[in-house]
Amino acid sequence: MDASADTIPTALLDWYDSQARVLPWRSPPGAPATEPYRVWLSEVMLQQTTVAAVGPYFAKFLARWPTVSDLAAAEDAEVMAAWAGLGYYARARNLLACARAVAARGGSFPETEAELRALPGLGAYTAAAVAAIAFGQPATVVDANVERVIARLYAIDEPLPAARKPIRVRAERLTPAKRPGDFAQAMMDLGATVCTPRNPRCLLCPLADHCIGRRDGAERFPVKPAKAAKPQRKGRAFWITRDHAVWLVQRPGLGMLGGMRALPDDGWSARSDGSAIAPLVGTWSAAGLVRHSFTHFDLDLQLMLYSGGDLDRLEGDSGEWWPLDRIAEAGLPTLFAKAARLALAQR
Ligand code: ADE
Repeated sequence: MDASADTIPTALLDWYDSQARVLPWRSPPGAPATEPYRVWLSEVMLQQTTVAAVGPYFAKFLARWPTVSDLAAAEDAEVMAAWAGLGYYARARNLLACARAVAARGGSFPETEAELRALPGLGAYTAAAVAAIAFGQPATVVDANVERVIARLYAIDEPLPAARKPIRVRAERLTPAKRPGDFAQAMMDLGATVCTPRNPRCLLCPLADHCIGRRDGAERFPVKPAKAAKPQRKGRAFWITRDHAVWLVQRPGLGMLGGMRALPDDGWSARSDGSAIAPLVGTWSAAGLVRHSFTHFDLDLQLMLYSGGDLDRLEGDSGEWWPLDRIAEAGLPTLFAKAARLALAQR
């Protein structure tokens, strides 16, 4: 067993005894548990919604439907209307389905995490929260606040979502047999007021002496998942010179790099496969790749040098011969500036 498995919950509960937030659905630290209906209703409302936003809704629901059986007897539309503004309306439908299932069993909630979990629309988080807070069961409650606290406490290096498993294991080891409901709410309060996502207030933290993450900077945890790889596109750009000048075109007004001066290309920006034909017949040689990263994709642009002599056809296209010694003034976007440097380096 973890050496700090006792000291951590004890330190946290001591802190909670003096620092617990006063919230309408909560009994004071150490006091007998709140009625299950109130615990369940508040926990459903608090998912994805802030404590401040939930307050008035919680009061309104309790005044209108004082018991779970009252709520079960309400019209669907009435409940949906009362929920309006809390968002995530599937939660309101689940709330009603659950209330009706509880009313059907006589109006009392089951007491174990497993039985609670079996109620319609009651997820793992809510089942654990109600078991711990309303029934004093040693259920482990893991929400985003708790995830952050645990990831920092143990400096869990794995990024989310893989970190969820070790986080849960650690959280389960810490969950005390005594006062599990207060422990769960203490973790939430710590995450909401001290161990905040940014600028955590480690100097005020009751767990600072136990916190491994704090040594390298707690803010680094939980480690964010790597960003999804960007799509990779390919394209070609064409370098055509005559008398110390290069052929530049103006890009169409709409679309990527719209309206900017550029090298002619094969239409990569329109998701081409890079096989479009060159602007001139004749001899082309590959001069290397320009790699460039746009917001939504990475581009490998193959630079093609023209060494044929059939330039007459270009004159009909909209473009201009730009002096090579003034290329810096052409206002080429970075992608094409890189391509120009590559071409000029080969002269
Ligand atoms: N967020 C979700 N449940 C909560 C609770 N019981 N106390 C404080 N914040 C919460």
